[in-house]
Parts: sequence; structure tokens; C-alpha cells
Amino acid sequence: MAQKRVLSGIRATGRLHIGNYLGAVKGMLALQDNPEYETFYMVADLHTLTTPYDAKTLKDSVREVVLDYLAAGLDPEKSVIFVQSQVPEHVELAYLFSTVVTIARMQHLPTYKDKVKQYPQANSMALLHYPVLMAADILTYKADSVPVGIDQEPHLEIAREIAGKMNEAYGLSFPEPKRFTIKGSEYIPSLKGEGKMSKTVEGSYINLTDDLASIRQALAGAPTDSGKGEKVPAEGGVANLLKLVGLFLGETKKKDYEEAYIGEGIKYSELKGELAEAIFAELKPLQEKRKVFENDSSLVDRILKEGAVKAGKVAKETLAETKKAMGLI
Ligand code: TRP
Repeated sequence: MAQKRVLSGIRATGRLHIGNYLGAVKGMLALQDNPEYETFYMVADLHTLTTPYDAKTLKDSVREVVLDYLAAGLDPEKSVIFVQSQVPEHVELAYLFSTVVTIARMQHLPTYKDKVKQYPQANSMALLHYPVLMAADILTYKADSVPVGIDQEPHLEIAREIAGKMNEAYGLSFPEPKRFTIKGSEYIPSLKGEGKMSKTVEGSYINLTDDLASIRQALAGAPTDSGKGEKVPAEGGVANLLKLVGLFLGETKKKDYEEAYIGEGIKYSELKGELAEAIFAELKPLQEKRKVFENDSSLVDRILKEGAVKAGKVAKETLAETKKAMGLI
């Protein structure tokens, strides 16, 4: 049986945090190790251009994501690892796809509205076009599974709509891609007590490369309460800390703390200390692996070059098929 394809990517906004790791990378790893799937994992550098960025450091930011991918266990023997802009067919396909998408549909996306609110000066065509390029990333490989965080669901919906419209209008056979999740691969809350863990919110995240002292410091800034009450809070700082306890120390530990909250009270210094140790224990092996790749940049160059060639081969086929169906060739 033919392998099913998987594609995922992360924007190049610097080093990855544990939200990226639990929300996306863990899913990428699970599919990479499943022989039923052929996996394509990229760094979405073109998508990075849709919000303010620094041209001088963009290449370094791309490299940081690649190093974090490799450190986390993405394996060039098993997955095609590449940089989005090195496979220009994505952009051409995105243009062709934009012919079946209305402006109104794009303007109503919550992800678009949020970004405009965050960067009112940067309301560009590229930002509006973001989901179309993302659909092209996915459909270039005819991927039917996409390991990404739940916040990306509106974009996957667009990818499915585009697939359906292209198939109907031009007799093509794009699959309708679905989000892939595994347990523990989910919405990771911000340490600030509100919203998701995000690179653009200072103090909200823990990077995969953080040492124990930095992790402790980040957790120290997480809001708490008196540690006692009639009901365990369902949202906010304490709820978020408990969620992280569940993810890194296990559900039993989380229950213990929840019982303590209703009973004798939680000592947050203790909880945060224990949580910091558990997070660091999980990150340490990744940090050691990262050093190997940091010290061998020609190896990383080679991985990306080979990745772009392999991805490009598939991309050229899909693009030719689409151009033919649309009457261009
Ligand atoms: N929009 C995704 C994010 O912010 C990044 C991304 C770009 C992506 N292209 C993709 C994710 C294709 C999955 C598939 O996380």
C-alpha cells in the first residue's frame, strides 16, 4: 500500500518553546516513526515575513528551528527536512489556489483578525494570503495528516476548502487534510495565566534550550493565588500550572495537587520547583543532541539541501499536474 503523506511546519521566529514541542513536534515525531507515513517537515520562513521581522537575522532564526527539530529527534533518514523558500513551487501553487478563494473568507478568519489587532501597521496582502500559502504547503505533498497545534484548525479548514474546490473545478484529486494530535500534544497555556504559550509574549514560554535556572525563573513569574480554595480554578495562572504538572509530572501528581488545593493548600514554591526539575529532565537529552548539530554546520547544510531536493521532486509533480488541469500547460 502507498504511504500516506504528512506535512508540517513552524514559523522561523527563533528557538522553539515547549508549546511548539508538545503542540506540534511530538506529533511530527510520532508520525515519522510510523512506517505508514512519509513525512515532510519544513521551516516556514516565507510565513515569517507576514509579521514584522528582521531580515538580518532571518537565516539565523531558520537555523535555530532546524537545530531544535534535529535535537528533538526529527531524523533526516526518516523525514524530509527542508526550508519552505527553498521549494519555490509552494508559492506558485499558492497563487493558483488563490483563484478559488474569496477575500471575504480570508478577512473573516479569527487568526487573521488577531494578527491585525496585534500588528495594525502590518496588515499586508501577504498576511491575508497566509492561509492560502499554508494550504499550498500541505497540498503540494497531498498530505492528509498535519501535526499542528489546535490554534491552526481554521487554517486547515481553508486547506480542505481549497482542496475541495480545486478537485471540483479542475478534476484534481487533492486529499482533505486533517489535523493530527496525540495525547499530550495539545494546547499549551502561557505561563502568564492567559492565552497560549507564545514567542511574542515575553515571560510566557520556556525554550527547549533553557537551563534549569532559566526554567525556574520563568516559572517564578507565573501568577498564583493563596493556594487554597473550595474549587480548583478552571482557568488562569493556577489552572495553567496544574496543566503543566499533568503534562510533565503525570496525571496522578496533578490530582494530588488538586486535592491539596481543596484541602491543606498548595505550596507553590514546592510545586514550581518540582515542575522545573521535571521540565529540565525532559529537555536535557535534547540539549545534548543539539550540541552535536550546532558543532557540525556542514552536516546541517547537507540535510537541508537533500531535503529541498526531495521535497522539490514531489512539488514539481503536483505543480505540473495542477497547471495542466488549469489549462496552463
Ligand atoms: N501556520 C503555522 C503556525 O503558525 C505554520 C505553518 C506554515 C504550517 N505552513 C504550514 C503548519 C503547513 C502546518 C502545515 O504554526
